[in-house]
Amino acid sequence: MTETHAIFAGKLVHKRSVEEASGLLKRFYLVEKQVMRTLGGALIKVANWELNKDLPYHFWQDSLRADALRTRIMELRYPRRDVEANHDPKLVQFLSMLIRAQDDAELLAGIYDVVKQELMEQYRLYVEQADPVNDAPTLEFMARFPEQIQQQIDYVHDVRDNIMPQSDASEWRNVIRSYLTGIGGIVGNAVTPEQDAAAAEAEQWILRERAEYVMPRKAARDPRFIPAPSSVPPKRAESPIEIQVLTAIYHITEIWAAEAPGLAIWKWDDMPWEFYFDLARWAYDETRHVKMGEQRLKDWGFEIGIDVPVYEETYASQAQNGGDELDLMALLHRFEIDGPANREKAKQQFESFGDLQTSTHIDYDWADEAIHLKYGHKWLLYKFDNDYEKMQEVMEVTLARYYQYVEDVHKVWDYEPFQSRIATKMIEIEREYNEQQSRNHSSNG
Ligand SMILES: [Fe+2]
Ligand SMILES: [Fe+2]
Repeated sequence: MTETHAIFAGKLVHKRSVEEASGLLKRFYLVEKQVMRTLGGALIKVANWELNKDLPYHFWQDSLRADALRTRIMELRYPRRDVEANHDPKLVQFLSMLIRAQDDAELLAGIYDVVKQELMEQYRLYVEQADPVNDAPTLEFMARFPEQIQQQIDYVHDVRDNIMPQSDASEWRNVIRSYLTGIGGIVGNAVTPEQDAAAAEAEQWILRERAEYVMPRKAARDPRFIPAPSSVPPKRAESPIEIQVLTAIYHITEIWAAEAPGLAIWKWDDMPWEFYFDLARWAYDETRHVKMGEQRLKDWGFEIGIDVPVYEETYASQAQNGGDELDLMALLHRFEIDGPANREKAKQQFESFGDLQTSTHIDYDWADEAIHLKYGHKWLLYKFDNDYEKMQEVMEVTLARYYQYVEDVHKVWDYEPFQSRIATKMIEIEREYNEQQSRNHSSNG
């Protein structure tokens, strides 16, 4: 009998060794990290608006689970470098294929129906089989994981019906499933020669049928929306209501500020773990800012993508001028540098308008932006090898490209049909506001 076995009530019980435990946790960590990176990279090609806004929440959650696993793996006598290296090459290769999904439905089918489903089951099994004393620090966090992943799966189940156009992802789902089974699943079980052959066949099918992922020139947008080359209106906002509406529209455009870090998470595959951890949070925060604007506009009766445009001059201005994800990150940081001072002013301005909903949104947005400034400074300097001047130079180039794009668009596009719809809505909002004021006045009098 080895040390890893003990007799309980006459039964031989296998006790998981430190080596076995850390080996499993390392596989879970790899899956969480690569799924999170896949969702990040895919975000720019995800068309469905609900998914645009909520996938960053999921991959931020994924990053929190990965982080807890990573910390625990290192407690289990792992030298730091080993957490990131020497993974099962078959599992690495399998995970790298998930981003080749050709549409939203396939992305969800591969990641949620197959990978997250199995990951959830493996967490349950791990928890069930873990010794409550020996491995208590793992159980403390992992006990919550299956429920969290189930919530992600349930969310996706609910959103699926909104995906337009509807497409059948069953072939992709089957290929991904037999691929994963064929490599012994997430935990690397023994496989039969037939399963092994099926995995090889699945891999070949993907390489043949689904193109390698490259950064698109245009961000995918929901086909339910009216297409638009830009979000920014040609005219400056002057009156309070114009400023209020424009601020909400600007919040919606921040979807690009989630997509840019998502893309960097995917494209930059050799960064320190903290980079992925920081950028997942960054992307998630930006979708919260999007929701702030969306909530405000919806309360006024605007329909997103119909009354107000959802397109990003920011992304297009770089992607269509030879820019890459580093340029996008440089532009994002360039915008954010001016953020805190603007936010402070804007918060007071909205208080003076009596728009407390927006002023509170700005208050929290301002807090988030202070964190993003640190992330931007830290990781851009890292990418520019601490060459601060070079970093500044690129930031200014990307800003110039952005202004040029907006200028060019406004030469050929009059912001219709959005301009007229927004103008009509603003008249209604002001009339309702004035009626409310006079009712308040007469009841007070
Ligand atoms: Fe933001
Ligand atoms: Fe931000």
